[in-house]
Amino acid sequence: MQLTSPKFDDHELQLVKQCLDSGWVTQGPLVAQFEQVFAVRHQARYALATTSCTAALHLAIMALGLEPGDEVIVPAFTWVTSAHCAEYVGARAVFADVEFDTFNLDPQTLQAAITPRTRAVIVVHLFGLAAKMEEIMALAKRYQLFVIEDAACAVGTTYAGQPVGGLGDIGCFSFHPRKIITTGEGGMVTTDNEAWTNTMKSLRNHGATGFLQPAQQPAKPYHMGPFDMLGYNLRLSDIQAAVGLAQMAKLDGLLAERRRLAEHYTELLNDVAEIALPGAPEKCGHTYQSYVIRVRQGGMAKRNQIMEELDTLQIQTRPGTHAVHRLGYYAHKYELKPEQFPVAAACEDTTITLPLFPGMTEAQQQFIAASLKKALGSA
Ligand SMILES: Cc1ncc(COP(=O)(O)O)c(C=O)c1O
Repeated sequence: MQLTSPKFDDHELQLVKQCLDSGWVTQGPLVAQFEQVFAVRHQARYALATTSCTAALHLAIMALGLEPGDEVIVPAFTWVTSAHCAEYVGARAVFADVEFDTFNLDPQTLQAAITPRTRAVIVVHLFGLAAKMEEIMALAKRYQLFVIEDAACAVGTTYAGQPVGGLGDIGCFSFHPRKIITTGEGGMVTTDNEAWTNTMKSLRNHGATGFLQPAQQPAKPYHMGPFDMLGYNLRLSDIQAAVGLAQMAKLDGLLAERRRLAEHYTELLNDVAEIALPGAPEKCGHTYQSYVIRVRQGGMAKRNQIMEELDTLQIQTRPGTHAVHRLGYYAHKYELKPEQFPVAAACEDTTITLPLFPGMTEAQQQFIAASLKKALGSA
C-alpha cells in the first residue's frame, strides 16, 4: 500500500482538454483563474503560481530583499528547501529547534535564535498543522522580522479560523503529489503586498519588468519590453493550472476525507502507549497532509525495525522529514553538531509517516493499525 495517492477524475481531464483545445498552454488565462481562486480561498490579496514551493520560497526571499549578511531563522525539522531559500541569495539559514508535540517551530527557541542580523523567519506548518502563529507573529513584530510561511503541506489549514499563508508577510504552498492538492509539480506564493507581488512577477518571468499582466501588449510590434532584473523562468503552465483548478474545486471534500481518516487512525491507535499520535493545540488547525507518529522508546533502531516489518507487508512508510542541520551542506558549512538541535534529530530518527490518501478504505486502515501494533510488540 502506497504512502499517498492523488485523486483525479473527469474534471481534471475536462479542464486539461479545454486548455489543450484553446492552444494556450503556458501561463495564461487558466493560471490567472487558478491564482484568483487560490487567493480568495487563502484570504490573500495576491497569489502567484510558480513551478514549485521551492520556487515560491526563493521568490519570497528575493522580494523581501534578503542578502548576504542577513540571517533567516528556520525550524531544524523540515524539508531542506525551507532553509535552502535563504542560502540561494547568500543569506544564512539559522536553525531553531522544534516541539516534540507539534513538530513545529518552538517560539522559545525561535526567540533564542534571534540576533541583530536576523531579518526573517520561515514558519513551517509541517504536515498540515498550523504553527503557533500568535506567539510567532508577536516575536516578529517585537524584533521587526519578516515572516514567510512555508505552507507547502498546508493548503486549506487554518489558525484560529484564518487560513495560513495569509497570516505572515508571504505564504508559500506546494502542489507536489504528496501534498493536499497537486498539479504534478507546482506551487503558489501569496501576499497582500503589491510591490512584492510585482517584484515576484518579474523574477518569475525572466526578470521582465515591463509587461506584468498576461493581457498587456507592447505598444509597437517591435517593442521587446525592459528586463531590469536578473530573473528566472518559474512559471506554471496552463495545463497544470487546469489540473489545479479542478483540484481546488474538490478541496473541501479532500480536507474532510483526510480529517476523517486521521481521526480514525487516532481511534485505532489511541491505546498504544509506545507511540505518540499527532495532535493539534488550541487554535492550530490540522489538515493531515501527513499522519506522522513518533515511537517513544527504543530510538532509531526500534523505529527502523518497525518500518522494515511494515515494508515486508507492502505497507509503505517514510520518516517524517529531515533534521536539516545534520545534512551535509549545513553540517559542513556551519560546523553544526548532530546533537545541537536534539528535538529535530529525535524527530527525524523516531517518526513514521503512515499511508493516508483519498479513497483509503476501512480495511486498509485496520490492516495498517494491526500491523503496526504487531510490529511494536515484536520490535
Ligand atoms: C515543508 C516543505 N517546504 C517546502 C517543500 C518543497 O516543495 P516543492 O517540492 O513544491 O518544491 C516541501 C516539500 O516536500 C515541504 O514539505
